[in-house]
Amino acid sequence: MNRIVYLNGQWLPEAEAKVSIFDRGYVFGDAIYEVTAVAQGKLMDYPGHAARLKRSIGEIALESPVGDDELLAIHREIVARNALEEGLIYLQISRGPADRDFHYPEAPVPTLSLFTQAKKFLVDGPAVINGIKVISLPDLRWGRRDIKTVQLLYPSMAKMEAEKRGAADAWLYEDGFVTEATSSTAHIVTADGRLITRQLSHAILPGITRGSILDLARANGITVEERAFTLEEAKSAAEAMITSATQMVQPVVQIDDTVIGSGKPGPVTMRLREIYRDFHMAHLI
Ligand code: PDD
Repeated sequence: MNRIVYLNGQWLPEAEAKVSIFDRGYVFGDAIYEVTAVAQGKLMDYPGHAARLKRSIGEIALESPVGDDELLAIHREIVARNALEEGLIYLQISRGPADRDFHYPEAPVPTLSLFTQAKKFLVDGPAVINGIKVISLPDLRWGRRDIKTVQLLYPSMAKMEAEKRGAADAWLYEDGFVTEATSSTAHIVTADGRLITRQLSHAILPGITRGSILDLARANGITVEERAFTLEEAKSAAEAMITSATQMVQPVVQIDDTVIGSGKPGPVTMRLREIYRDFHMAHLI
């Protein structure tokens, strides 16, 4: 890969972008991130990602190193510089380099970096046509999952465990209730077509795709219930799905050994996928 990346105000070939080994993002995982999808060389659902980024920055008591307009301009420029048609933009802000100390430095100099990653996700591949299998695992992440931090070791471990067991992903549970998938929001659909999605709290990330799907579902006459659901309820649901910026709406057809509904992607899931894609493809910026 020979990407041009952004690092603290500079545009650099990826091999030349260097961050200090004292960076708190590296030493403490003291950093937050965002992932925005790119389609047709434009940004998808950008305002939501920009708003959540601001929230994450505030929650860890940092200040954004760039203003709103500059942030959007950087997103657009990185797409242009890399001639990215389809894929994602990864953005990270850490508290920057400092002597190793659990206290935050008094005057942090945050590290802001962005890179692109090409990814074909808009075509309906096998995962969408056939749906995916997930396993269930206890949610052993920290208690502030509403902040999009780079502390992703447990989700990685869970993804590896899923792979080992022949599944595409893991649904995490806590006290019997599903929290979310390793890197996406979990939803189920009841036999009478209601969309059930866990309510926002510190237990889950406020997924931007989640918010959009709920709005679009309501606007299209699908009843939405924002409440926690158990693993048992998920296993006996008519349909299941995950949502994220890079996977959009992805049908889930098996949880552990239990086949969900007909074992094929369900009608509500596929309708939501279509509605989401149509809406956001028409509102790229
Ligand atoms: N993950 N929950 C978790 C734990 C996530 O990591 C993500 C996103 C989501 C969905 O959020 P959104 O709809 O805003 O993408 C839910 C991103 C894509 C990632 O880490 O790659």
